[in-house]
Amino acid sequence: MTLRKIIIDTDPGQDDAVAILLAFASPQELDVLGLTCVAGNVPLDLTAKNARIICELAGKTDVPVYAGCDRPLARALVTAEHVHGKTGLDGPDLPDPQMPLQQMHGVDFIIETLRAAPSGTVTLCPLGPLTNIATAFRKAPDIVQKVQEIVLMGGAYFEVGNITPTAEFNIYVDPEAADIVFKSGAPTVVMPLDVTHKALVTAPRNDAFRALGTPVGIAVAEMTDFFERFDKEKYGSAGAPLHDPCVTAYLIKPALFTGRHVNVEIETRSELTLGMTVADWWGVTDRQKNAYFIGDLDADGFFDLLTERLARL
Ligand code: RIB
Ligand code: CA
Repeated sequence: MTLRKIIIDTDPGQDDAVAILLAFASPQELDVLGLTCVAGNVPLDLTAKNARIICELAGKTDVPVYAGCDRPLARALVTAEHVHGKTGLDGPDLPDPQMPLQQMHGVDFIIETLRAAPSGTVTLCPLGPLTNIATAFRKAPDIVQKVQEIVLMGGAYFEVGNITPTAEFNIYVDPEAADIVFKSGAPTVVMPLDVTHKALVTAPRNDAFRALGTPVGIAVAEMTDFFERFDKEKYGSAGAPLHDPCVTAYLIKPALFTGRHVNVEIETRSELTLGMTVADWWGVTDRQKNAYFIGDLDADGFFDLLTERLARL
C-alpha cells in the first residue's frame, strides 16, 4: 500500500482522539501532514488544545496543529458538551499541552498544502463540521481539483439523526459548509451514523484497550468510559460508537467497509430537517452520484485493527 498523505480536520472529541491516535500508529500507511482544528464538539480554543494533548499523548509533537474556523459559515455555533464533557476530552486526566499551536490559520494550511502538492496526492479527513474545508474551497477554488479524496465522518440516512430527528451533528452544525463540500466535485467517501453506530466499544473491546497497559490504551479506555454515557442512555447501545476512527480505518483497510455510490444532498433551508443528508440510496433521481456512502463494516476486524495499532504507541 502506498503511503497516503493526509490532513485531519478535527473537533476533538474523544472519538476524534481515537481516530488521530490510529493514524499516528500507522506510519506505514498514513503520513499525517497536520491537524487543522475546527469549532464543533467544543469551541475552537478547546479543540485546538485537545488536538495538541492527543499529539503529546502519542509522542507526536512534530505534527503541526493549526486553529481553523471558530464558528460555522452562516449560523451560531452549536456544541456537544452533553456528549463529550466540558473539556471535550473528559475521561482521562491528561496534562495541558506544551507544544505550540501554529501561527498560520488552518484554512491557509489546507490551501497552501494542496497548492504545493502534486495533484491527487493529499487526502482530506474531516472529522467535525465542514467549516474549514468549505472555507478553503471558497477562498481557493483551484485546490478542489488537487484533492486526492475527502474521507469524512458525517451524515446519516437509515440511522437518522443524533442531534435532531433527521440530522447528524457534524452536518447539522454547518449545513452550508457541508453543501459546499458535497457539491465540490472532489471524490468523497462518507462515514455516516449508518456505519459508525455499528462500531460500538462493547465492554470486552474496552477491556482490550485497557489491557494494553500503556498510557494510550488506558487513556482510550477512560475516554470511552466517559463518551459511552450519551449513546447508552439515548439508544441503549452496547457501547460508545467510534464514529471518527471509521475514517482512519477506511484509509488503512478499506475492505473492512461496504457502501454504495449515491447522490447525497444537504438540507440547508428547512428548519425541521436542517442538516439532513438526503441520500438517494435507491437511485430514484438522476442526480449525480457524488459520494461513496458507507453502510456497513466488519466490526470485529475494525476493533482488531484498532487495538493492534494502538498497542504500537
Ligand atoms: O455525530 C458524531 C460526530 O460529531 C463525531 O465526529 C463527533 O466527534 C462529533 O464531531
Ligand atoms: Ca468529531
